[in-house]
Amino acid sequence: MPNPTVVGFSGNFTRPSKTRGFVEQVVKDIARQHGLSASTEDSEDLGPSLGAAKWARDLDGQARAIFDSVVNADVLVVGSPTYKGSYTGLFKHFFDLFDPASLRGKPVVLLATGGNDRHALIVEHQLRPLFGFFEAQTLPTAIYASDKDFANGVLVSEAVHARARQAVAEACRVAGVPYSVVRAA
Ligand SMILES: Cc1cc2nc3c(=O)[nH]c(=O)nc-3n(C[C@H](O)[C@H](O)[C@H](O)COP(=O)(O)O)c2cc1C
Repeated sequence: MPNPTVVGFSGNFTRPSKTRGFVEQVVKDIARQHGLSASTEDSEDLGPSLGAAKWARDLDGQARAIFDSVVNADVLVVGSPTYKGSYTGLFKHFFDLFDPASLRGKPVVLLATGGNDRHALIVEHQLRPLFGFFEAQTLPTAIYASDKDFANGVLVSEAVHARARQAVAEACRVAGVPYSVVRAA
């Protein structure tokens, strides 16, 4: 049986990216709790075939491998920078290529970053309905961080760290790890 996986996908397409770094941190925290294999990719990793793709079959090999890793993930962490009050267009375009049943029941941690707190509810008003469409198991604690929560691209806000720990604990609980182990970490 293959090792269970936690996979992160971030909708940024510029580097360096606060969002990607934050998604990766949450993925690693979940993986560390109970030995899951971990990987994190972003829209930039998908490469140029994404923009031209109308169907998943149009993706090139590299993008298709990322697509498949998301479909097959045991736990998914999704994040996007806020662009014009929502997730990036490429983030949505990527998920437009997924079969409606392909993420059913999958535990999903929701995360977003933004320039300020004005659009903090992107996680509830944009990301949660999208993964609700897929009948995924979105976890209760969604995480939002704004520019003031980072220093040199690294998350420094203790309040956001605490919220991320809460989301990690929820992810580990649904992935079968005793909650007490998570809380003690
Ligand atoms: C085209 C564009 C649109 C943006 N729109 C918003 C917005 O509507 N609300 C907001 O809070 N921040 C907005 N921002 C700021 C980014 O969401 C924010 O800086 C984000 O953390 C960048 O993430 P990254 O470092 O992963 O690229 C926008 C930035 C760009 C480049």
